[in-house]
Amino acid sequence: MEAIAQFLHKSLPKYLERMPFPDSISDIAEMSGQDWMRLLPFLGIVSFLTYATVRVFIPNQSSTAEDPRSKWVNEDIQKDCPKVADVMNIEDLGNKTAYCRCWKSKKFPYCDGSHTAHNKATGDNVGPVVLKRDG
Ligand code: FES
Repeated sequence: MEAIAQFLHKSLPKYLERMPFPDSISDIAEMSGQDWMRLLPFLGIVSFLTYATVRVFIPNQSSTAEDPRSKWVNEDIQKDCPKVADVMNIEDLGNKTAYCRCWKSKKFPYCDGSHTAHNKATGDNVGPVVLKRDG
């Protein structure tokens, strides 16, 4: 803690005193290359600290403006339709029919087992709904 206090109370003020800060806008045009070279590390540190502070206190704009398509469960089935809905005739179901609930089946709306690869790759636990007749 003493080292930090020493830096803040003695070293930093001395360092800043030696910086060739311009007194006015017109002074900027008159600064030499050597002045700029002395200022660059200071400006770099100030820029980094400003950036780091802004990153901590202001939410990441890219995450708040995330593409809503990244949250789609249906990635490619009938994307030209406003809503994917299927109507089945109960007489056509047969004794047992599995319907996809993972949106990965190539035979959608029927399950083709694609949920297994999806679950393995993502750790998810989705599976079909199976309709079957008794007897
Ligand atoms: S393929 Fe989607 S639930 Fe089986």
